[in-house]
Amino acid sequence: MISMPADLYGILLQRLDIRAIAAVADNGIIGNNNSIPWNIPEEMAFFRRMTQNASVLMGRKTFESIGHPLPNRRNIVMTRDTTWRRDSVITIQKLDQLLELGIEGPLWVCGGAMIYKMLFPACRELYLSTVFGKFEGDTKMPPFGDIFVINKTILTCTTFKVDHYVARQHANIEKSPLSL
Ligand SMILES: NC(=O)c1ccc[n+]([C@@H]2O[C@H](COP(=O)([O-])OP(=O)(O)OC[C@H]3O[C@@H](n4cnc5c(N)ncnc54)[C@H](OP(=O)(O)O)[C@@H]3O)[C@@H](O)[C@H]2O)c1
Repeated sequence: MISMPADLYGILLQRLDIRAIAAVADNGIIGNNNSIPWNIPEEMAFFRRMTQNASVLMGRKTFESIGHPLPNRRNIVMTRDTTWRRDSVITIQKLDQLLELGIEGPLWVCGGAMIYKMLFPACRELYLSTVFGKFEGDTKMPPFGDIFVINKTILTCTTFKVDHYVARQHANIEKSPLSL
């Protein structure tokens, strides 16, 4: 259960350019045993290209699964553990701390499920890769149909496609996806 003043989402939506980026299988799975159940280099390359030189936000479990800060990005990790520290990582316990970090440019929400669920209402956009096929897993994509509306498919490959969504609340922002 997330306890958060509804207006904090409005403030985050207005003040920061928060975008979510995720990959989901046809059966809704995004993770298994704290890792990603597929290995698609082109999809990873898409993620790298989109988030390059920007700020990225992830949950502590996703950070641990990667094992190191993502290079060439400002890494922000969310945890309730006030003692948790890693080199080259900014740690936050509460979402309102995002307003104090002087973030310029986009802040990419990179998962996992808990962080997507919490941050989706503050995101202007969602870049969602759909990985073709069904995968075994223990972590599912939270529902997002009430929050985002599809704009268009921006990439199609043999193993996945990428759809660009915009926030219903922020539908007046320009609906063109980032140039690839
Ligand atoms: N397919 C994709 O696009 C994708 C992307 C990212 C991750 N994943 C997968 O998703 C799975 C991990 O997802 P997950 O949902 O289990 O974990 P997660 O969202 O990565 O991290 C959860 C952690 O975030 C912290 N957290 C959550 N809510 C918080 C709050 N309100 N305040 C402060 N801290 C909070 C807690 O850390 P503490 O326990 O330290 O307090 C919590 O344990 C893995 O399998 C990963 O590989 C998939």
